[in-house]
Amino acid sequence: MNISVVILAAGKGTRMHSRLPKVLQPLASRPLLEHVVTTAESLAANSICVVYGHGAETVQEHFAGRDLNWALQEPQLGTGHAVQQAMPHLKSDEIAVILYGDVPLVRPETVQRLAGAATAGPAILTVVEADPTGYGRIIRNPEGAVVQIVEEKDANDEQRRINEVNTGLLACPVHLLGPWLDALKADNAQGEYYLTDVVASAVADGVKVGAVRADSGAEVMGINDKAQLAVAERAYQQRQADRLLAAGVTLADPARLDVRGTVTAGSDVFVDVNVVFSGAVELGDDVQIGPNCVIGNAKIAAGSVIHANSVIEDALVGRNCSVGPFARLRPQAEMKDGARVGNFVEMKKTTLGAGSKANHLTYLGDAIIGDGVNIGCGTITCNYDGANKYQTIIGDNAFIGSGVELVAPVEVGAGATVGAGSTIGKDAPAGELTLERSRQRTISGWQRPVKKKH
Ligand code: UD1
Ligand code: CA
Repeated sequence: MNISVVILAAGKGTRMHSRLPKVLQPLASRPLLEHVVTTAESLAANSICVVYGHGAETVQEHFAGRDLNWALQEPQLGTGHAVQQAMPHLKSDEIAVILYGDVPLVRPETVQRLAGAATAGPAILTVVEADPTGYGRIIRNPEGAVVQIVEEKDANDEQRRINEVNTGLLACPVHLLGPWLDALKADNAQGEYYLTDVVASAVADGVKVGAVRADSGAEVMGINDKAQLAVAERAYQQRQADRLLAAGVTLADPARLDVRGTVTAGSDVFVDVNVVFSGAVELGDDVQIGPNCVIGNAKIAAGSVIHANSVIEDALVGRNCSVGPFARLRPQAEMKDGARVGNFVEMKKTTLGAGSKANHLTYLGDAIIGDGVNIGCGTITCNYDGANKYQTIIGDNAFIGSGVELVAPVEVGAGATVGAGSTIGKDAPAGELTLERSRQRTISGWQRPVKKKH
């Protein structure tokens, strides 16, 4: 279809009580406007124009690198006036599709249906609301054709009882829209140029007005305050949960999962309660995610289990690994197949080889650890001297005893054993036992101090 999209985003958003412009308020951690822009991009439109007003620089900065036209609306004289600012970016043979920057949940399918109904004249997207308060009402003639949209503030009592309302989204051939916008008058209760008045203009010119119904109010809800933002967030999350369920993922509770990015999942994946996913997350077949895990930009391969309360960020987990409970994988942590990290283990910029284990209370930073290695409880790679970071290398099948400090740069050879409690500052040779301990002494007859009496 030969369409161009106009996104109205010049409104102030006073009711957010925030320094952030309304259209940058986050829904699933992405700005409202970004959701709408992404929807617009999926329509394969000729162009997308954002009509902006408030917080101009911050808004434009956020969308740097995306193919958008920008039209400034200053002052803001209504939705009709807003669309007028975008007209220089539209071509006369196109269908203009008007979206709202604060209506983020509308689906591409719905917008496509709307555009499809606007090949010969304007089409509006309506919805039936139990409580239509605040919306423009759809006036139909006895034959059921749409003849007018009346704003709440301009409506009489009878009109206010109408439940079919205007979502605000509209599509119209550009060659018809231009003259109708030019003819708009602001002779209404709000003294604004209403986009909705093009409906009456079409009827006056004998052009039929199409009407498409949205399936649910949630899809077309407009967001003006934090309460509506919270409702939209839940609606969005429900949609993400439904999508995962439809793909065969088992969710312990669809209402206790937050997806703030994209999740792809293989078969027989299980996700327990209160899990937060962000960025791009890939879960292989049979992956199990325990309760209260936070996972961002991570690939977790088939058969791996992430136990409760683990945090994974920018990391790779191989097949059949075990992580947590209470483990933290930081950026560039990589676990090869069958590796295990247990409670209170932190990994950063570290590769843990196949079948290697660090089961308790350990920090592994800037390290390359081979296969079949055992890292004892309480081991620390001392990777930082206060100014620079250094690397620790541990060969295959090495055994690091409990409570070892590896002062980098340092290398432990393959098959080496490092005795518990050692502080290792020089390379430990392959196949040998290396120890570093002060000699154990016993002072016989020594007594603990006692509390003085007054
Ligand atoms: C509008 C519709 C109403 C509909 C409702 C749905 C008109 C006259 N009314 O009313 O029929 O039921 O949306 O939510 O169109 N905007 C600008 N520049 C302006 C004014 C608005 O860019 O000068 C943008 C806003 O940022 C917002 C959208 O247009 O994204 C809607 O504006 P808003 O003031 O909320 O319109 P409503 O009065 O709610
Ligand atoms: Ca509104």
